[in-house]
Amino acid sequence: MARGLRKGLTSYGDDGFALFLRKAFIKAMGYSDDALERPIVGITNTFSDFNPCHGNAPQLIEAVKRGVMLAGAMPMVFPTISIHESFAHPTSMFLRNLMAMDTEEMIRAQPMDAVVVIGGCDKTLPAQIMGAASVDLPTVVVPVGPMVVGHHRGEVLGACTDCRRLWSAHRAGEMDEEEIAAVNGRLAPSVGTCMVMGTASTMACITETLGLSLPMSASIPAPHAERVRLAEASGKAAARLAVEGGPKPSDLLTPRAFRNAMVVMQAIGGSTNGIVHLTAIAGRTPHGLDLDTLDEIGRKVPVLVDLKPSGAHYMEHFHHAGGVPKLLAQLGDLVDLDAPTVSGGTLRDSVANAEDVPGQDVIRPRTDPIKAQGSMVVLRGNLAPGGAVLKQAAATERLLQHTGRAVVFESVTDMAARIDDPDLDVTADDVLVLRNTGPKGAPGMPEAGYLPIPKKLGRQGVKDMVRISDARMSGTAFGTIVLHITPESAVGGPLALVRTGDRIRLDTAGRRIDLLVEAEELERRRAGLAGAPGPVLPERGYARLFSQTVLQADEGCDFDFLRRHPGEDA
Ligand code: FES
Repeated sequence: MARGLRKGLTSYGDDGFALFLRKAFIKAMGYSDDALERPIVGITNTFSDFNPCHGNAPQLIEAVKRGVMLAGAMPMVFPTISIHESFAHPTSMFLRNLMAMDTEEMIRAQPMDAVVVIGGCDKTLPAQIMGAASVDLPTVVVPVGPMVVGHHRGEVLGACTDCRRLWSAHRAGEMDEEEIAAVNGRLAPSVGTCMVMGTASTMACITETLGLSLPMSASIPAPHAERVRLAEASGKAAARLAVEGGPKPSDLLTPRAFRNAMVVMQAIGGSTNGIVHLTAIAGRTPHGLDLDTLDEIGRKVPVLVDLKPSGAHYMEHFHHAGGVPKLLAQLGDLVDLDAPTVSGGTLRDSVANAEDVPGQDVIRPRTDPIKAQGSMVVLRGNLAPGGAVLKQAAATERLLQHTGRAVVFESVTDMAARIDDPDLDVTADDVLVLRNTGPKGAPGMPEAGYLPIPKKLGRQGVKDMVRISDARMSGTAFGTIVLHITPESAVGGPLALVRTGDRIRLDTAGRRIDLLVEAEELERRRAGLAGAPGPVLPERGYARLFSQTVLQADEGCDFDFLRRHPGEDA
């Protein structure tokens, strides 16, 4: 098989000429023949002025290059799309599959024997792993790492759990303009990803658990020198994979690895978005992932990591307590430690090297968990025949079993227009319902599931209500919030049938979410909706492709033509 510069020659009908031409051009950059004969390690560059989370990417790239060269291979850096949560319109999720396609196709198209992908902001690691899994070239993932914490008036602050909490306090009149402006400058005090257990941290922990990155890669803070050394070590590891030809993603992304990832996701109090992304990654393999398995795992796996938004600490504290290797050690027989990793060994090696930190209380033993059961539950019922998700670890205990009157918002725009209306007929016992916010309906399944508490209730001290939608929610948010209702309302899911005044029952113990309306009445309503226009199909471009091919949340919101089907041969 062709290696290095000889891989994937451009089609001119004459391979000799194609290689001659390729060498002629690359020599313009000053490379020697010795360099060009080496195995090649590609390195993705996702630095962007629009992506402050990846602000340390240039330094990490230099370190990865150094590691590759120390190991005798040739590093080649190439750009791919970069996505930041706050700079992507209409939503970063809308662009995740585009980044996955870009990453996949650029790895495929260019000559490399292994690749290091550097990412971190929420959608980037999932996109990169989805792409890498489809190409199946040896891949090492280097997360950019979490930010360090901020401080305000003696209080520790973290993006973006505290962004939401303090903004709610401002909305409720508890914090004036001057103070909220001061807080704004302190919530994200360094480059790196959000330092709570949001989607970025969840995906970094999952990546390490899947064996796609080196030990401790999920938790070393972005500005620390240790992260730069990790990048150098990752470069060396990738050079070894380039020579040895593996392990490849298909060697690592096995059913036991996905099971381990689900165990870790439950034990860390992970982001609900992690479910969608892990499903999408598994969908690129022959194995798939099923929501009921996640729920079954959650009944056995306790929450052991005490991080915001469901706990008290931040990622740097998780790191100093021993990170993922220590967590795996505490989980013991709940994880399969024989799963291989890119470091050439297994998770058992990571655990053997896990640091013992006396007195730390961030990663608990199983005998003293934060919560006896996992953080996420999967609900079904007449409102969510395809499933819905609730992060019970971040919910209000008394609301987990709740029946209330529905207050329906037709869209994000409708919600924004009416939620703070002093005349809105709403009480703290009602259930706020938001629809047309799913993968096709919004489009892009925005993180609108964290419906704000109506201002008039916030001012009365109401901190949480049951809220349900077909949207997603930031992993940094908290509340009794049912998400990812599938099928979404825009494709005729039962959420479309709810009317203000109906009663909705959330039965977390029974894993159900139900609309308490007679079946005949629901049929009448469905018949009434039959002629209603569906979402408008965009006329052109990526938006049209997205609308025509995006799958529902229970299939990871990937495009239908990008998935592998369970059981399909490699
Ligand atoms: Fe990038 Fe939170 S905005 S990880």
